[in-house]
Amino acid sequence: MQLMVNGQPYLVDEERDRLLLWVLRDELGLTGTKFGCGIGLCGSCTVHLDGIPTRACITLLSAADGKEVRTLEGLAEIGANGEMVFHPVQQAFLDEQVPQCSWCMSGQMMTAAALLEKNPKPNAEEIRQAMDAVYCRCGTYHRIRKAVARAAELAGQSRSQLG
Ligand code: FES
Ligand code: FES
Repeated sequence: MQLMVNGQPYLVDEERDRLLLWVLRDELGLTGTKFGCGIGLCGSCTVHLDGIPTRACITLLSAADGKEVRTLEGLAEIGANGEMVFHPVQQAFLDEQVPQCSWCMSGQMMTAAALLEKNPKPNAEEIRQAMDAVYCRCGTYHRIRKAVARAAELAGQSRSQLG
């Protein structure tokens, strides 16, 4: 089957019971998506399927057929001069110095990016509710919420600059 990941088509074997997480990591080498609990609880393996935050560790490859998969590697963009331009969520997580061990961060950033795509100006409660879906064993929740609010501001500024 053809799998679309971060705008690129990949040909992969369509075997029954293959999980999206292991195809992304082991076959496509997209190791930005992390393995945590493996049972759909922690959220560290979160990717987007047609923009919906989805736990890749419990998602069959077949569920991604005909859909656009986005992983952490697909968040940043290439600028006009070929430079990497961070997604506002990535920039805000850096600015707020969020990561501690970093294991959960891919899932946190993918969850935050999906939230801001659906709701560009979330309030504090909406941020808390969305981000509580992903565990952080290091307890960086306060910094995560601050960074998501900052990312919403950064995204708003770049929208107004674009006109
Ligand atoms: S590794 Fe997928 S939810 Fe924990
Ligand atoms: S930064 Fe360590 S688990 Fe979140």
